[in-house]
This record gives sequence, C-alpha cells and structure tokens, in this order.
Amino acid sequence: MASIELDRVSKIYANGAYGVRDVDLKIEDGEFVIFLGPSGCGKSTTLRMIAGLESISAGELRIGGRSVNGVAPRDRNIAVVFQSYALYPHMSVWHNMAFGLKMRGVSSSEIETKVAGAADLLGLGHLLQRKPGALSGGQRQRVALGRAIVREPEAFLLDEPLSNLDAQLRAEMRLELVKLHRRLGRTIVHVTHDQVEAMTMGDRICIMKDGRLIQHGRPLDVYANPADTFVARFLATPPMNLVGAQLEHEGEDLVVRVDAETRLTVPRKHYLPYVHKAGGPITAGIRAEDIYETQAHPEWQRISVKVVAVEALGAENVLIGMVGRDKPVEIQARLGRHFFAPVDSTVDLYVDVEPMHLFDAETGKVVARPPLPVGR
Ligand SMILES: Nc1ncnc2c1ncn2[C@@H]1O[C@H](COP(=O)(O)OP(=O)(O)OP(=O)(O)O)[C@@H](O)[C@H]1O
Ligand SMILES: [Mg+2]
Repeated sequence: MASIELDRVSKIYANGAYGVRDVDLKIEDGEFVIFLGPSGCGKSTTLRMIAGLESISAGELRIGGRSVNGVAPRDRNIAVVFQSYALYPHMSVWHNMAFGLKMRGVSSSEIETKVAGAADLLGLGHLLQRKPGALSGGQRQRVALGRAIVREPEAFLLDEPLSNLDAQLRAEMRLELVKLHRRLGRTIVHVTHDQVEAMTMGDRICIMKDGRLIQHGRPLDVYANPADTFVARFLATPPMNLVGAQLEHEGEDLVVRVDAETRLTVPRKHYLPYVHKAGGPITAGIRAEDIYETQAHPEWQRISVKVVAVEALGAENVLIGMVGRDKPVEIQARLGRHFFAPVDSTVDLYVDVEPMHLFDAETGKVVARPPLPVGR
C-alpha cells in the first residue's frame, strides 16, 4: 500500500522562509497525481519531503498509513526521477539500470530478469549495450525511469522529467508515462510546469502557489470550476479573461455591467447564488473558447471588441482585443481558423454566459455557484 498523506505539512528553510505551508493532501494508492504551479511555489520541496530528501518542519507525512517523518529515504520504498537524469556516462544502459540493484546485493539472476523486464516495458531492449552519450534525450529519460522501475518502488515521484525534451519527444513520453502507470498500477506524483501534461496525464491535479495547495481535483473539474482568479488564469492558454464590472439588478435579472454598451445578463439559474453580490464590483471570468464569432444560440450575448491582433495558429485564430469603453480590458477569444478582422476594427462577438464565473473583486475567490458539469 502506498497511499501518501500530507497532514498540515510545512517546510521552513534555515533562512526562515516557507518553502511549503500547511499542505493537506491524501494521495490514494495507485493514483496518478500532478503538481502544477509557477516557479518557486513549492512543488519540488513537497516532492523532496515525500521522498525523505528534505526534512519536514511541521505536520505529519504518512506513507501506507505509517508516519514516516523520521524515516530515511532508502526505507521509504519510493523512487525519484529528476529533470536532470544523471546517468553514469561511462556505464552502458544495462549497467546504469542494474547498478542500484547490485549495490543492494540483489542476485545476478534476479538483476537479469528485472533489467530485461524494465527494458522491455520501456522499449530499451536494443539499446542495452549503448552508453548514455549515444542516446537521445528521450531514450536517456527512459533509462532514468528504467533505473527507478527495476527497484519496484511502491511510488514514483517525477520532478519535471520531461522538461528537457523537445515538444515531440515530450508528447511521446507523456503517453509512455500514462501507459506505464496503467501497466504498473503504482502511485505516481508528477511535477510539471506544462499545462498539457497537467490536464492530460493524471487522475488529479494539485495547483500550488506561494507554498500553498490552492486547489485539487480532476483536471476538467478544476478547469471548469476554478477556485480563484489565479487558478482560472494559470490553467489555460490563453488564460481565462478577467473583466472588472459592476453586478446590477435589471428588472428581474442580474447584469454584469462592464460599461453602458457591454453588459452580460447572468443566466437565470445562477441568479440566486450571485444575487448577494448585486450592487457591487465583481470580476467576470470568461474562457477564450466561450466567445464565438456568430450567435449560434439565442442565449449567447453580444459584446463589442476592438481588434488588437489576430494570431493565426493554423487550427484556430486567436483574437486579442479590447472590451469596455471607460476602462478597456484586453481579452482573448479562440475563434475559427477562417475568422479575420483588420487591426483597429470593431467586431461583434458572442459570449456563452453559462460557464462564466464571477469572482470577488477584492479577494479573487470564486463566488460559489453550482459547479459546471463536465463530461468524461
Ligand atoms: N535550500 C533552500 N533554502 C532556502 N529556500 C529554499 C531552498 N530550496 C528552495 N527554497 C525556496 O522555497 C521555495 C519553493 O522552492 P521549490 O524548489 O520547491 O519550488 P518549485 O515549485 O519546485 O519551483 P520550480 O518550478 O522553479 O522548480 C522557493 O521560494 C525557493 O526559493
Ligand atoms: Mg522544482
């Protein structure tokens, strides 16, 4: 059993700074969990505390239900793979994978079986005699993984293992890791900066900021229902559009009023959860893909946007434009690849307001409403 529980875990470095603050998280046995967050938010520190490479300043860490605060790394049965895979350059792939087992006094027949098994799993069978210098980045990364796999750990901690690879190799290795998880069924904690990795690889995504765990949940749930403006912007490219507005009563409706001409009526079903904010400032959050060039549904609402640029990405065109007359705000919209509008022209676009979130204008926390259902 390798469930990993962090119970108000903190790391205070010698200089008094918090690397990680009060993190509460239970990772289930066999779960694939992603840590995502900006540089310096405490991802590696958390991983290193789980591995035992860093002491815990406060709180308790349990692996398989057992407190391991004082347990040495080698007694935790957890393997770590870092971004710099640090293979032994003078040893062949086979010896790189076998080395740790030899040091532990594992019999040579067992080593043979385990290395062959891992090489088979990772498609390294034909490279066993090569030295790391004669391998591609992706192959080296697989050797580093192989070295972890032969130990048969209960959990793998991966600290940005794909960040040195080019885009195509990354995409390949992403799939390899997902398959590996399915085959081995072991707990994996994977740290990344990369949004696509975060959205697609894990059962659960944990978003960190300033040493704190801000939100965790299934990737699509977090994407559809961000806890605050930080998560809303961090977990998307282009980031969620945030527009300052007033929330006002208008007849029986609530209206998000950006200015006299830009106003969005809140869907009826969100009236009750939002009504207590009426009469004050609000931040409206609209995803770039919820803005359309034509009004395909009667409930989509028109906004007028001044074009700053249109980026043609091949599969889609991203419009960057300004909304609001008094205090113009930049927004981005993911439109069809045939969309075109000249710079400085003004175009009408249509917002699907159902997925729109409202955030407290001061704290940035989402104003709670029933979560957006997501398919899967
Ligand atoms: N040995 C140390 N002494 C003091 N502060 C440290 C030490 N190691 C890390 N920190 C600080 O702790 C915070 C968290 O660092 P950490 O390495 O966990 O971030 P990270 O999320 O992994 O960032 P990155 O994405 O850049 O790898 C940072 O502010 C960092 O400067
Ligand atoms: Mg790091």
